[in-house]
Amino acid sequence: MCGIIGILTKNDDVVPQIMNGLKLLEYRGYDSAGLAVLDEDGQLERRRASGKISALAEKISADPVSGKVGIGHTRWATHGPATEMNAHPLATSKVAVVHNGIIENFQEIKQDLLAQGCEFESQTDSEVAAKLMHKYLHEGMSPEEATMAVLGRLEGAFSLAFLFADRPDLLIGARRGSPLAVGWGKELMCLGSDALAVGPLSAKIAYLDDDDWVVLTNEDAIIRTSSGKAVRRASTPVDPNFQVNLGKSGYRHFMLKEMHEQPQVVGDTLSTLLEGKEGRLRLPELPFELEKASRLNIVSCGTSYYASLVGKYWIENLAQMPVDTDLASEFRYRRPVLDPNGISLFISQSGETADTLAALRHCKSRNQRLLSLVNVKDSSLAREADGTLLTMAGPEFGVASTKAFTAQLTMLAALAVTLGAKRGLISEPEQFRLVRLLMEIPAHMAEILTKAPVIEAISKNVIAPARDVLYLGRGQNYPLALEGALKLKELSYIHAEGYAAGEIKHGPIALVDETVPVVVLAPSDSLFPKIMSNLEVVRARGGQVIFMGDNRGYERLTDEPTAKIILSQVDPFVTPLIFALPVQLLAYYAAVFKGTDVDQPRNLAKSVTVE
Ligand code: AGP
Repeated sequence: MCGIIGILTKNDDVVPQIMNGLKLLEYRGYDSAGLAVLDEDGQLERRRASGKISALAEKISADPVSGKVGIGHTRWATHGPATEMNAHPLATSKVAVVHNGIIENFQEIKQDLLAQGCEFESQTDSEVAAKLMHKYLHEGMSPEEATMAVLGRLEGAFSLAFLFADRPDLLIGARRGSPLAVGWGKELMCLGSDALAVGPLSAKIAYLDDDDWVVLTNEDAIIRTSSGKAVRRASTPVDPNFQVNLGKSGYRHFMLKEMHEQPQVVGDTLSTLLEGKEGRLRLPELPFELEKASRLNIVSCGTSYYASLVGKYWIENLAQMPVDTDLASEFRYRRPVLDPNGISLFISQSGETADTLAALRHCKSRNQRLLSLVNVKDSSLAREADGTLLTMAGPEFGVASTKAFTAQLTMLAALAVTLGAKRGLISEPEQFRLVRLLMEIPAHMAEILTKAPVIEAISKNVIAPARDVLYLGRGQNYPLALEGALKLKELSYIHAEGYAAGEIKHGPIALVDETVPVVVLAPSDSLFPKIMSNLEVVRARGGQVIFMGDNRGYERLTDEPTAKIILSQVDPFVTPLIFALPVQLLAYYAAVFKGTDVDQPRNLAKSVTVE
């Protein structure tokens, strides 16, 4: 949701490093940005700007600032519009603070402080943390004592970093529900929202647990619990070659680069699961025998939820294991009936999505066995689950998920095959056949990428001019219709809906006329005749049909569609992995033509760490 960073050095100017850290965190939110440092007189100096990090950089070059200790923030607005006044850090004469998350009782605290004569400059919830800290410092508390007092007052999910006037030797951070990592570097100490920010500065990093707080000095970082007791949290060494490639490697957008990385990512994710030449699958060691679970309860959000829907088809089909799928934001509130012999699986690219994390903690409280499927190794979901399936997509900077999605699908497909084999439902030859199909996906994806100009033309001429677009799919490709619609919505701001193709006649057909493109995902599988009749219903009402399928299906069409995207004819098992790229490309090119911000679409954040 937001990104925070803090850096403490003995002699270096921290502003350039803070700015680099904020660039690495910008994917988390980009409504406004700011930093605060101590000048040589120990006074707090702030620079803040509405909009992206680049606007802040311009402000700093126009009005330079430097210091040996500082904090920085890139914001996804929750309370108060994305103005400079609401940009972090929020500050008083004694303290500056940056915040990720939501302080749920901020109104009560604000009223309390206003009654004591305190004045506020912003509409944010975060400002109460600065004002409370100021109050306690003014009452004579030390920064450490004041921090414990502040944390005792705040309710909600947050990570915080505090910078204190006249204390160039001190930074304090705190975590409750939103991630915070601490880094021990050469001649510096740092903290930040994730490893991407602190990794490049550190020789080792550790993650705070909920209700931990940390005191950074030039000598060390001491992590303490809410009671003030010093604790050690597991730290991991940072590869000296750890460098986050912030470059687009010549691609116009991160999203385009990441779409092109998908053949490699699918291959890498699969290769971590294969042993031996013949392609026997081996899942990572787990603390329980997954194949013996009575059922699988999958909880996730957004694109990860659509991956779970495909996983349900695969796992029930190949392993005959009952699978429930839930939107994390709905899950806890429906009072789910959880089977004690079941296993709960949480799918998340970031591993930090608040709704999904809350669902995991709900299942933990109900003694469920917990499995996470994430793309970030040390993420909260990975650390709080009993076992983790780790995708190898690498950092994904485009806010719209692409390579992470196909990596999730790859992992779920491998999971389904493994479970089927372990439950005696898939023979060894069949297992090898299915694995070979998966191993061929990178080549199919590479071939689809050569069709980008065809897809680009359809986006430009048919999709981009539309006000509404429908996506239809059946069976395990129905979730790809949902994903295609989400991609178009979140990237181009064109309204789109995905439907199970058989549902079109139960209402949505009323939407169809000659202005409405309908993307039909139609592999020539057993359901093709059904989807053909759905496609005819659309055509009969003048809808613009965009056929997405293989040549064999195309040749069975009774008349020419408005446009066609011809894909390889593949075994039905792997069609979801085949459709993912073309629906991504359709949305990408529509966004490019519409001139939207492809990598950082309006109102979005890469990781939604508030409920
Ligand atoms: C995907 O394109 C979206 N940006 C969004 O739906 C995302 O999938 C969702 O917020 C879940 O994120 P997660 O996978 O990190 O949990």
